[in-house]
Amino acid sequence: MLEVTNAHKTFFPGTPNAVHALRGVDLKIERGSWVCVIGTNGSGKSTLLNAVAGGFLLDEGSIRIDGVDVSKWPEYRRAKLLGRVFQDPFSGTAPSMTLFENLALASRRGQARGLGLALNSTTQDELTKCVAEMELGLENRMDNPIGSFSGGQRQSLTLLMATLIRPRLLLLDEHTAALDPRSADQIIRLTKRSIEHDCLTTMMVTHSMQQAVSVGDRVIMMDQGKIVLDVSGPRKQRLRPRDLLAKFEELRRRQQLDETAADMLQTQYV
Ligand SMILES: Nc1ncnc2c1ncn2[C@@H]1O[C@H](COP(=O)(O)OP(=O)(O)O)[C@@H](O)[C@H]1O
Ligand SMILES: [Mg+2]
Repeated sequence: MLEVTNAHKTFFPGTPNAVHALRGVDLKIERGSWVCVIGTNGSGKSTLLNAVAGGFLLDEGSIRIDGVDVSKWPEYRRAKLLGRVFQDPFSGTAPSMTLFENLALASRRGQARGLGLALNSTTQDELTKCVAEMELGLENRMDNPIGSFSGGQRQSLTLLMATLIRPRLLLLDEHTAALDPRSADQIIRLTKRSIEHDCLTTMMVTHSMQQAVSVGDRVIMMDQGKIVLDVSGPRKQRLRPRDLLAKFEELRRRQQLDETAADMLQTQYV
């Protein structure tokens, strides 16, 4: 379904600020798989998702979605295949538009622009039903501006909007990280339901080891722009947060050793 091959990306190349954010990432994701992506801050998780979404073009390597090479496609063209939810619950919706208007727009994603055609009564009934299915009691607030909803509610609605037109690939980038624990649990529950209901193929970046072990069928860990751990099948089912923490600790120790070795080499040769 998704095939990332030898992906390289350097930001600010050739300058003292150059960051080699992706260093040869190879990743194949099967249709219907739900992959949790973990890794320390700055390890390249968001960059990997952005590369897939077309936020920038790769320096090297390729990206295929359903067998089609989209490496050169601009972001807006790839957007028709993708659903995305980011960390900030206030970024995914238009605050001054009503809940219904936001959903109507999302339901027409990839089609001709303009609200006119979307605002008939069938659409209204269908969208109200979708909201009711979330069981958050928001179906009575279809005419309220989105700006009047809480962060957790808005993130639920952003998730609904991202999945309304069943995307080929759902990209979630720490979409529960800015929420209180109760809202985060609720979003995870809705995420699970939506993915299972529509058999969506999903990449979900999370900072929560608990989430990484408890949902999805595969976990990958990134470190310094590379995939350093890839666990699926029965091993994924047995995975515990402490296993992941142990891997983080191992990486940290190795990095310290590398730094010490580099220091020693430097002192030897000056
Ligand atoms: N648009 C960008 N411009 C410059 N540097 C970036 C950009 N996006 C990410 N980076 C850098 O690339 C590295 C990886 O970042 P990112 O993928 O956001 O990490 P993560 O999501 O794992 O925390 C970091 O050093 C970050 O500063
Ligand atoms: Mg990130």
